[in-house]
Amino acid sequence: MPQTQAQIIDGKLHAERLRAEVAAEVARLKTKHGLQPGLAVVLVGEDPASQIYVRSKGEHSLGAGMHSVTHRLADDTGQDALLKLIADLNADPRIHGILVQLPLPKHLDEKAVIAAIDPDKDVDGLHVVNAGRLVAGLPALVPCTPMGCMILLRETLGDLSGKRAVVVGRSVLVGKPMAQLLLAADCTVTVAHSRTTDLPAVCREADILVAAVGRPRMIRGDWIKPGAAVIDVGINRVPFDDPEKAAQGKTKVVGDVHFKEASDVAGWITPVPGGVGLMTVAVLLQNTVTAAKRLAGLEA
Ligand code: GUN
Repeated sequence: MPQTQAQIIDGKLHAERLRAEVAAEVARLKTKHGLQPGLAVVLVGEDPASQIYVRSKGEHSLGAGMHSVTHRLADDTGQDALLKLIADLNADPRIHGILVQLPLPKHLDEKAVIAAIDPDKDVDGLHVVNAGRLVAGLPALVPCTPMGCMILLRETLGDLSGKRAVVVGRSVLVGKPMAQLLLAADCTVTVAHSRTTDLPAVCREADILVAAVGRPRMIRGDWIKPGAAVIDVGINRVPFDDPEKAAQGKTKVVGDVHFKEASDVAGWITPVPGGVGLMTVAVLLQNTVTAAKRLAGLEA
């Protein structure tokens, strides 16, 4: 019997819709309250992938009508200088959201840098106050990538209550907050990771499978429950399959899921690129608006 192909969850479409909503809200805040949400993005060093992400964050925040500043600091910037910049941004009334692009160069203490951000301006949701608020079920600024995954899931599946969700990966940035969000949506949640015994069997239980491990095409077609919703957070650079192109050193981006195999089994799947990545920036803009409203004492 011919297998039905999974439906593509179009991240571009969902992200465009969310950005348009954010832009409309920014316009309303400006007109009604004289409030222009402001985002500061901090990049230390020359990491090529980070440079692309940071440029995109700056462009989209301007595109939504926000005040937007990008601080590009040299690779050898010291901890004190970075902490001084964060203190200045914390005190700057035009800035409502602060994002320090990760990873930072090795000589910098990432945890101390994140701890220095005012939790009310922590639009990345990485400060322990926001992480704790999420676990406690209190209003929080939530990390952008898992929030983007939740929006895609809700808009695709509707009510998630009672579904079995498996998150592969336990990072602070994605895996852990993703599990909390799914739990808050009444899913039954398993967090799997590199030490999980029989990972394929665990994945096969999932109605919702979120892959956030950073290993190209690790999740194969026979790990997926027929009809499942597969959310691929991975962004991995690999050589082209075509040996001629690979020999020229050409690379392409693939996810943590083997897309071709998974598409034959899953009910829905996010492509890479064109899936979750685009949602991350859109949610960052939404978080900045939320932070601006809360800081201004408006209902968020
Ligand atoms: N690097 C990759 N993804 C992210 C993100 O969501 N936030 C930050 N700060 N750095 C990242």
